[in-house]
Amino acid sequence: MSSSVRLPFLCFFVLIQLLGALGRGGRLTGCEFSAIFNFGDSNSDTGAISAALSEVPPPNGMTFFGHPSGRLCDGRLIIDFIAEDLKLPYLSPYLDSIETNFRHGANFAASGSSIRRGYSLFDLSIQVSQFVRFKSRVTELYNRLNLSTDKTSAFSYRLPRPQDFSRALYTFDIGQNDLANGLNQMTVDQVIASIPDILSQFSEAVNKLYEEGARVFWVHNTGPLGCLPNRVIYHQSKPGNLDQNGCVRPQNEVAEEFNKQLKDRILLLRAQLLASVFTYVDVYSVKYSLIGEAKDQGFFDPSSFCCGSYYGYQIDCGKKAIVNGTEYGNPCEDPSKHISWDGTHYSEAANKWVASRILNGSFSYPAVPIRKSCHASRNP
Ligand SMILES: *[C@@H]1O[C@H](CO)[C@@H](O)[C@H](O)[C@H]1NC(C)=O
Ligand SMILES: *[C@@H]1O[C@H](CO)[C@@H](O)[C@H](O)[C@H]1NC(C)=O
Ligand SMILES: *[C@@H]1O[C@H](CO)[C@@H](O)[C@H](O)[C@H]1NC(C)=O
Repeated sequence: MSSSVRLPFLCFFVLIQLLGALGRGGRLTGCEFSAIFNFGDSNSDTGAISAALSEVPPPNGMTFFGHPSGRLCDGRLIIDFIAEDLKLPYLSPYLDSIETNFRHGANFAASGSSIRRGYSLFDLSIQVSQFVRFKSRVTELYNRLNLSTDKTSAFSYRLPRPQDFSRALYTFDIGQNDLANGLNQMTVDQVIASIPDILSQFSEAVNKLYEEGARVFWVHNTGPLGCLPNRVIYHQSKPGNLDQNGCVRPQNEVAEEFNKQLKDRILLLRAQLLASVFTYVDVYSVKYSLIGEAKDQGFFDPSSFCCGSYYGYQIDCGKKAIVNGTEYGNPCEDPSKHISWDGTHYSEAANKWVASRILNGSFSYPAVPIRKSCHASRNP
């Protein structure tokens, strides 16, 4: 069909769907996503780097899992709260070869990942390649299945069904490393100049997934980079660099520019990919408001963190050292009082706070709760 024929046809189709959904009790019905496919960095890595390179050490996982769970956090990440909200199990990392179950989705996110090709081991284009391979293997296995004899093949308990790929929710939380690495090596202006290229590569990834049948996309914008305690520690010296919440202003301005352009790209993708449904989620504003209201919300100073040390003796979370009789590297007493877990990654308590505000759609464009995000209007 030519696009001139498709467009009115599609609008009609969407309208019928919406009217149908509204008719059933006046409100949009839940989408019953049977799977989530996630792409991202450490903000949503549930064990890729642990499986592929080296295990995330304790005390990561101490609050919720009681042991390291592959997450750079004391407990759950926003992606875990998304899974809970959709009544689906936590996502297994695609790269893990032990005890995985992909029946309800797979997680391609890996800590340290960038959008831009070649700037990290598991950049977004690699994550998408892994997805393409995953989908083709699953499809091939089902095609080989003889349904008259093989109704309950062992793999059907652990893999999605071929039809799940077009009915799944595709989630993204990536871009922070492109900006952070850029700011470590370039001027603010140079990083801002690189944003269109970063986002072109993001669009390419989305286009590829769309070609593979992905339809419903839930995209987190990037958080306030300049509020991460480790960025504050290393970049506060310049006079006038910190804002009223103690965040590094130029770094947040880079994140805001990225988000502005990301939103424009999503509007463009939504117009180009006729059967797509996009939700842009303003995670930046939620995180920034938490940092601004830290005390009122029961958290300590937002520049503090629970695990590892950047002051006095510098040591990463998970390592220990005794220097001049002082032991460094032990976690704090109560991680739930800290917004930051380790200076770079948010605590479970903060993730939960943020998730509770984004899941109901109050920070989304269009403002649709995640459970109903397959209905997100094409023209918010
Ligand atoms: C499926 O198995 C049945 C019973 O063994 C057999 O008759 C049939 O030919 C098989 N079909 C295929 C496509 O292999
Ligand atoms: C440990 O003591 C030495 C000697 O007094 C001093 O130079 C060094 O800065 C101290 N290190 C820390 C981390 O306190
Ligand atoms: C979403 O949840 C937050 C936090 O629980 C609440 O403050 C807000 O009013 C809710 N918004 C909507 C639209 O339900």
